[in-house]
Amino acid sequence: QKGGYPHFMLKEIHEQPESIRATILPRIRKGVPDFTADNIPGSIFDGVNRIIITACGTAMHAGLVGRIMIEQLLRIPVTVEIASEFRYQNPIMDKNTLVITISQSGETADTLAALRLAKEKHATTLSVVNVKGSSIARESDYVLYTHAGPEIAVASTKAYTAQLACLYMIAFQVALYRGTITVEQGAQYIKELQAVIPAIEETLTYADTMNDICKSLVNTEDLFFIGRGLDYALSCEGSIKLKEISYIHSEAYAAGELKHGTLSLITEGVPVVALVTQENVSAKMISNIREVRARGAMVIMITNGIADADDTIYDYNIKLPKTSDSFAPFTAAIILQMLAYYTSVHRGHNVDQPRNLAKSVTVE
Ligand code: M6R
Repeated sequence: QKGGYPHFMLKEIHEQPESIRATILPRIRKGVPDFTADNIPGSIFDGVNRIIITACGTAMHAGLVGRIMIEQLLRIPVTVEIASEFRYQNPIMDKNTLVITISQSGETADTLAALRLAKEKHATTLSVVNVKGSSIARESDYVLYTHAGPEIAVASTKAYTAQLACLYMIAFQVALYRGTITVEQGAQYIKELQAVIPAIEETLTYADTMNDICKSLVNTEDLFFIGRGLDYALSCEGSIKLKEISYIHSEAYAAGELKHGTLSLITEGVPVVALVTQENVSAKMISNIREVRARGAMVIMITNGIADADDTIYDYNIKLPKTSDSFAPFTAAIILQMLAYYTSVHRGHNVDQPRNLAKSVTVE
């Protein structure tokens, strides 16, 4: 059942090239996105002047990445809402709002309630769901399935990257439909998304390195993830994964916020995972890393082909296989998943079934 892997989580981490392939390939026609087989007509995006993404946990973190991509390509305001907050806030929605709900299980109670609320308020609803025929899939106006296959480990891995793939496809598809990108640009984006598959394959070969690095985290009590832009969205996911299965307290910080409070928590030896995959903010990130380094932080840096940074500012520099910056979340996510996985293994925890947590949260 575990296909020779010691845990479902590791198996699912390694299935990601295949799950991304299965999620994107059937939706590419003549080199551009095509949702005809999903019964999602372009016309559902007519008149949409606002997009709300709502979900819980890791699915919500996929939304944080999706928001940036959709806003960049579409120039429509996109907000990401935690479903359990959103549903109680009398949110502003109308027929010109597109609400995207994201859920692996399709059964998360708060996400389902947020979807029902959106329908009550006449928004168009589109769900990104993994489990066929689940409640969220059945109740949504439109569904874009992630074809990640069954995910057994409580910690979500392959569903997350498949959700990212769907959100990227939505961004490309709507931008093409509304003419905010050209067909040539759409085709180029699709090429770059496909190139993520071999890049993930290569990232998976870093398993031994990650295993070694994680040995140094066995006695860690607190850990910080820092990043900017897409890397901040990724930091949120890295942090939840680590907390969930290794039981190490961690926090994700937008790196520019360090000076506004968190820096006081950085003392000798505190690990900081610094994501530096976005060239437009890499100089700022390097200066943030210097700030934590000056307070004695143990720095694990994750980079995407930036010019070699001065090696006194990090303990480890994990160089991702090069993708264009907008696609780095896919490879960076794999590293963060391995970071959580191997740390949990070295601490001797039940990786697949962490304490107090369930795979599907059907209570509110
Ligand atoms: O089934 P869903 O995607 O709706 O689940 C949402 C969260 O419960 C889930 O992503 C949770 O945060 C994961 N266990 C994190 O790895």
